[in-house]
Amino acid sequence: MKNKRFTVKILIDIGMTICLLLLMPYSLLSETAHEWIGMVMLLLFILHHILNHKWLTSISKGKYNAFRITQTVLVIMMFILMMGSMISGILLSNHIFKWIEISGSYMTARQIHMFCAYWGLVVMSLHLGLHWNIVVVMAGRLWKNSSIIRKWMVRTVAAVIAGYGLYAFYRRQIGDYLLMKVHFVFYDYEEGVFPFLIDYLAVMILIAFIGYYGGLLLKKTSKRKPKS
Ligand code: HEM
Ligand code: HEM
Repeated sequence: MKNKRFTVKILIDIGMTICLLLLMPYSLLSETAHEWIGMVMLLLFILHHILNHKWLTSISKGKYNAFRITQTVLVIMMFILMMGSMISGILLSNHIFKWIEISGSYMTARQIHMFCAYWGLVVMSLHLGLHWNIVVVMAGRLWKNSSIIRKWMVRTVAAVIAGYGLYAFYRRQIGDYLLMKVHFVFYDYEEGVFPFLIDYLAVMILIAFIGYYGGLLLKKTSKRKPKS
């Protein structure tokens, strides 16, 4: 039963990651598909919270160390950004919720949608990185013995992808979107959707990489006992 629950949890996590990635190319994929994927993301987000309800109900219990504070702040930020993306998305909808008219505040809703989408990408990737140890432990179980060579090979591949993510972050002007220096996402319809998805996946891996190592550092400092 416990194993089944864990499998469902992981499948929902993978589903959310795929949805987030597919939401970023908007019209490059298809406008209607974007809205439906947004709705699937909302459903998975609700299920993710039902399955993690124990954590939510114990939020006021126990002590807070640096790791727990970071984890909680990220969850609060994600909650606000997800609500922002969903509400503004529904108001802007041209297909599923076409009947909702907001002509006067269209530009404000657009800017909120873009701000929440890009910051959501950053914060959700950091959050994923904080939980990456689950994947590391699961992958470790695939082999009987641990191997230094394998460990370093995986680390090298991850570092190369993260390095490419840094280049993609710069090439795709993601910093400008985050700082709202540019108010429209640039989509190159000639290149197609795959190069866009590969670049955004590399950016997500880069940020998750930062989250994973940042999390390890926070856990280490949280464990260190204060000098008496
Ligand atoms: C791409 C999207 C996301 C991914 C991949 C993801 C991944 C994870 C993972 C791996 C866990 C550990 C337990 C589990 O496997 O379910 C977790 C826990 C949790 N997630 Fe998410 N999550 C995402 C989005 C969100 C969002 C938007 C929120 C909104 C507030 C959220 C809130 C939480 C909470 C409260 C927990 C339990 C506390 C914790 O361990 O941090 N997650 N998430
Ligand atoms: C986490 C959820 C979501 C993310 C990350 C997301 C992401 C994005 C991104 C990156 C854009 C392109 C912005 C631009 O071109 O300026 C966009 C546009 C749009 N999204 Fe979403 N979206 C989400 C949910 C939704 C939902 C649920 C709906 C509606 C049901 C929706 C409807 C729209 C519409 C109508 C536009 C076009 C806005 C315009 O430029 O006129 N989105 N979204």
